[in-house]
Parts: sequence; structure tokens; C-alpha cells
Amino acid sequence: MELCFATNNQHKLQEVSAQLGDTFILKTLRDIGCQDELPETSGTIAGNSRQKADFVWTHFGISCFADDSGLEVDALDGEPGVDSAFYSGSRDAAKNIQKLLLNLADKPNRSARFVTVFTLLLHGVEHQFKGTIEGQILTVPRGTGGFGYDPVFLPNGQDRTFAEMSIEEKTAMSHRSRALAQMVEYLEKQIP
Ligand code: IMP
Repeated sequence: MELCFATNNQHKLQEVSAQLGDTFILKTLRDIGCQDELPETSGTIAGNSRQKADFVWTHFGISCFADDSGLEVDALDGEPGVDSAFYSGSRDAAKNIQKLLLNLADKPNRSARFVTVFTLLLHGVEHQFKGTIEGQILTVPRGTGGFGYDPVFLPNGQDRTFAEMSIEEKTAMSHRSRALAQMVEYLEKQIP
């Protein structure tokens, strides 16, 4: 069965393909001829995930799924959340981290979580799957791996940040793979 993953991000595609196996033929936005910028204006992570999947289903009529992720920091009332990618006004991860650390400078509570929501539209019927990983925001970045806020995110129970882990180690516990595992389990039940 063909399924479109509403992304052109090759890294995400590889990660999802590896977990999904051969039962589904994965198509990217490029593969289905979608050159549009997908809408992400809902104001929530779950809402943006839904908007992207809805767009593909409405315009291309292909069963599909989309993801959206972000970092929720408790002392900042859930910020940067849906604005994680552009928190500092640009996509620059170092600037985003700088702003985050500045906003947290006088806050003793450093607890936070990464969140991913996958929205699956299977023949137009919606299912959402949410994955989270709880952790603490460090005062000083550590590590060079990963991306985004990884250097300041220390998962609870770990002594290394996401940026100090190998991709495999991070993937074994990440919000994205936890949400994805739920979606894969659901999808596998749909195919006899
Ligand atoms: P996206 O929806 O997966 O593109 O994620 C939106 C933004 O959230 C990214 O640009 C990052 O700033 C942040 N983010 C999401 N997942 C991660 C992660 O695994 N590590 C670090 N930052 C992340």
C-alpha cells in the first residue's frame, strides 16, 4: 500500500522507512508532485501535524501522514512549543538555544519535554499518535551531535545530552520514534 509522508526531509524519511518496513511504499511530497509549502498556522503541534496531513489528503487524495515536533519548557508555560524552529526569529539553532537559556536564566525549574505528534490520514480517516521524552534544560550546551535543542536537553535518567549520544542511542528513546512506534503498530494491524 502507498503512503505519503508529508515531508521532504531525507533524514526523517530514512528514520521512518527503517521502522515501517516493506509493507508500505513510502512516498515523499516530491514523489507525489507536491511543491507547495504546507500550512503550519494552527498554533499547536498537534494542529500543525493535522494541517499538513489534511493538505496532502485534500489536494492529492493519497493516504498520508505528517509529523510536527517541538520542545515544551514548563517554566516558560510550554514555550517554545510550536515555535521551536523559529524561536529566535530565525531557524538558527544556536540562536534559538541562546534565547532559551536567556529566558530560563532566573528559573530554578528546568524541566521540559520534546513532543512529536504524527497525524495519519488513512483513506481520509484521522488518527493521531503522540510521543514524548521528559528531561531537563542544562545551563550550558554539551555535545556536537543531533540538531536543534539537543545540546541543552538532558533526558531524565541519562548523563549525556541528546547531542552527546549516537543517532541510534537518541532514536531508541526519542519523542519522534515513540510516536512513530505507535503509528507503525497501528498500521501493521490494518494490513492482514
Ligand atoms: P519538526 O516539526 O520536527 O521540524 O521540529 C520543529 C523544531 O523543534 C525543530 O526545528 C527543532 O528546533 C525542534 N526539535 C524537534 N525535534 C527535535 C529533536 O529531536 N532535537 C532537537 N530539537 C528538536
